[in-house]
Amino acid sequence: MRLDRNIRDNFLQREMRTYGRKNGYVTKGQHERLHRWLPKISLPKEARLEADSFAAPAPVVMEIGFGNGEFLTHLAGLHPEWNFIGVEIYLPGVAKAVARLEDAGVMERVRISQLPAQYVLQAQVPEESLHGVYINHPDPWPKARHVKRRLIQKDFAKLLASRLELGGFVELATDKPDLAEWMREVLDAEPRLRNMAGPNGFIPRDPDRPATKFEERGEREGRTSQFLHYVKGKFESCRCTLPSV
Ligand SMILES: C[S@@+](CC[C@H](N)C(=O)[O-])C[C@H]1O[C@@H](n2cnc3c(N)ncnc32)[C@H](O)[C@@H]1O
Repeated sequence: MRLDRNIRDNFLQREMRTYGRKNGYVTKGQHERLHRWLPKISLPKEARLEADSFAAPAPVVMEIGFGNGEFLTHLAGLHPEWNFIGVEIYLPGVAKAVARLEDAGVMERVRISQLPAQYVLQAQVPEESLHGVYINHPDPWPKARHVKRRLIQKDFAKLLASRLELGGFVELATDKPDLAEWMREVLDAEPRLRNMAGPNGFIPRDPDRPATKFEERGEREGRTSQFLHYVKGKFESCRCTLPSV
């Protein structure tokens, strides 16, 4: 089965460079839901995410790399006061998420993009517009020659910070110890973000957060996940000059 040209042209992408799979098997039922929902809830390639992208204005929270949409659906149920933008490049993941979100009855407050998070943030999300960002178990790229493929990089941290509103948050999770340290080091070095556990710190696991597929996989393989929480502060813009007396 193929998706309509209209959907492929407006909402999906093959041309942008990403590391990791984009395509895979999508069932007939999932195709049907993608055709029904993507024109309504997907952010078209040329559009910007504005307040009127949603049915009603509310703080916008993004999840990057939502996988099968389990965490995103849970969040949308937990926070009826937020709107959401979920970004995931793997089409079968998008298809699973659309089904979950529809079944949970939260579609109205969720927008989806299958474009790479770097593009969405850079070209589609206005500065200082996000209330928060969740990044759960980003691809670890463990080989030394592949670390430049990791999502969290110095420039990406800068981009993230620029898209957050003041007081906005970034929460991350990973079950890979070297990636945990890498992310912490990169994000601790971004002057607009404050590590809420203190420099070099990790926060305890929030007992209310659902375990994602990759957290569960890590547990089965004997790895305990680590969690990071950053808040955007005024540090960079503070000139801190005292008034002359
Ligand atoms: C290891 S999986 C984790 C999935 C899920 N968050 C979890 O915890 O189970 C990483 C996900 O990030 C997605 N991904 C990788 N690069 C991406 C990018 N540039 N933009 C958006 N999603 C991306 C992958 O397709 C994959 O689904």
